[in-house]
Amino acid sequence: MERTLSIIKPDAVKKNVIGEIISRFEKNGLRIAAMKKIWMTKEEAKGFYIVHKERPFYDDLTDFMSEGPIVVMVLEGKGAIAKNREIMGATNPANAAPGTIRKDFAENIERNAVHGSDAPETAAFEIAYFFSALELL
Ligand code: CDP
Ligand code: MG
Repeated sequence: MERTLSIIKPDAVKKNVIGEIISRFEKNGLRIAAMKKIWMTKEEAKGFYIVHKERPFYDDLTDFMSEGPIVVMVLEGKGAIAKNREIMGATNPANAAPGTIRKDFAENIERNAVHGSDAPETAAFEIAYFFSALELL
């Protein structure tokens, strides 16, 4: 049993495909342990993506992530981190496999519909960034 953080990004929320995306997690055996819709400030987005602070796309990415509401979720299941990454598809939708969320809903390498933690350490940091112990049933 493992937990990972998932975000439905502002582009996908605007497209009204929250339900379609969530159903893909459920159909692949992941459970939603916690979930909420929030709107991050620029500063909150910068804190979330602090690992990317030296990258050239950091400023654009954090503008994008704070331009509208997002849905943040904790997904749980066996191998949840890797399974979520598989369901999401490659960062650039042009390289994403058929049937993945990014292939079907992403616009480009930045506006790519979903986020997923990439390792146990990042999952722990990212879950704690949005959810308190009391919110994690
Ligand atoms: O989200 P993922 O782990 O697949 O990719 P990342 O390399 O950790 O990058 C985080 C996010 O930054 C991506 O999901 C994109 O939204 C954005 N990004 C970008 O705008 N331009 C790039 N060249 C790479 C990533
Ligand atoms: Mg990443």
